[in-house]
Amino acid sequence: AVLSPLGYEVVPKADQADLVLINTCSVREKAENKTESFAFDLQKLKKSKPELKIGITGCVAQQEKDKLLQTLPFVDLIIGPDNIDELPWILEEVESKKTRTVVKADFDNGGRIWSTQSKILNPGPSTFVSVMKGCDHFCSYCIVPMTRGREKSRPILDIVKDVKDLVSRGVKEITFLGQNINTFGKRANETLSELFHRASEIEDLKRIRFTTSHPGDIQDSLIRCFEELPKLCSHFHLPVQSGSNRILRDMRRFYTREQYLERARALRQARPDIVFSTDIIVGFPGETEEEFEMTISLMKEMRFDNIYSFIYSKRPGTAAASRADSMSDSEKLLRLSRLQVEARRISKECHEAEIGQMREILIEGTSKKDPTRFTGRTSQNIPVHIDKTLDMKPGDLMNVMITEGTITHLIGVSLEAHGQPGAAHVINH
Ligand code: 5AD
Ligand code: SF4
Repeated sequence: AVLSPLGYEVVPKADQADLVLINTCSVREKAENKTESFAFDLQKLKKSKPELKIGITGCVAQQEKDKLLQTLPFVDLIIGPDNIDELPWILEEVESKKTRTVVKADFDNGGRIWSTQSKILNPGPSTFVSVMKGCDHFCSYCIVPMTRGREKSRPILDIVKDVKDLVSRGVKEITFLGQNINTFGKRANETLSELFHRASEIEDLKRIRFTTSHPGDIQDSLIRCFEELPKLCSHFHLPVQSGSNRILRDMRRFYTREQYLERARALRQARPDIVFSTDIIVGFPGETEEEFEMTISLMKEMRFDNIYSFIYSKRPGTAAASRADSMSDSEKLLRLSRLQVEARRISKECHEAEIGQMREILIEGTSKKDPTRFTGRTSQNIPVHIDKTLDMKPGDLMNVMITEGTITHLIGVSLEAHGQPGAAHVINH
């Protein structure tokens, strides 16, 4: 979107491109390693196509710019997450060939707020909108404070204008994004619940989601939103990281297992059909078998619909990086797989319990696996596949009957499409 005014278009394959940007994540080492292997593949391509420009963007560029200049000298540009908007000028500099690699990785340090319109070329029915960036916590395993800097939020007025524009272009569902979205607006005396109330007033916006939350920062006003705002979806992604209080303390998470469960209980009271998902780290330095079992027991108690689980990865500059890590890689892998087996069992049970329910879904597009089906999501964020019929299209909100539940998704039918008009109806075209 930043480059489209210059005539750039997206092409499906790297060998058709004039410019390839590798957008990177540094939250775990594995993602960082992929950057290098992908860049070396492109170097081969550049040998047969010398005019190809290669750039590295994102958090690895921010954190490792000097190292990248050494290891990947053939790269034309290295830009940090706060410099994306400068891409047209950076490319001009690249063309002028004054330096071998143009590096621009400066934090946006001006002011306490950050104001920038979303740049989305062809938004689908469901779209992400960044509302804050950076983080003021220092969880001992996490590199984000180093790569994204201190927390900064956009003003609500600015966001609402942006959302109205997206809705006028057909967007029905917005997921508001921030590293720790619960403290959104804190330096401008604005809150997440105010943002949700203002967004709810936008008539053609049908659904509101948000991610990611820190359990220690969930305000009562946010919990009340689940009672007050029907457009706020019945899904809460609430990263717990561990079920052991000792590990949580070592991770510098500033909440206990009991406090986490209390927040979840309050949310369930406010919205009885709410569904939770979470992030879990296994093999944090010093994690005992007993402490790991505490995570499994918390998972069983919460009955998460979906978990994102990771083996602890040592990140440079973080407090935990200097801790002795005595567990072997195979032990960590075993813990991860034990956790995932349990998580999949719970997901399957939860999804099987959906059979026979009527659920409203927002159709997002054709299923990646089966072109004869559409994929949508329930308010609870569970993917649902349904057979396409002529009267359905992406962006429709419709009621479906759930007929099948698997670990990852549900299958539904539109009763109208099966000759029973009235039993279910398309709510909105
Ligand atoms: N090692 C493993 N997982 C991590 N995460 C963040 N930092 C690390 C790390 N050093 C996970 C957390 C976080 C998610 C986005 O990534 O679970 O919630
Ligand atoms: Fe990282 Fe999230 Fe902790 Fe911030 S709150 S330091 S982004 S894990």
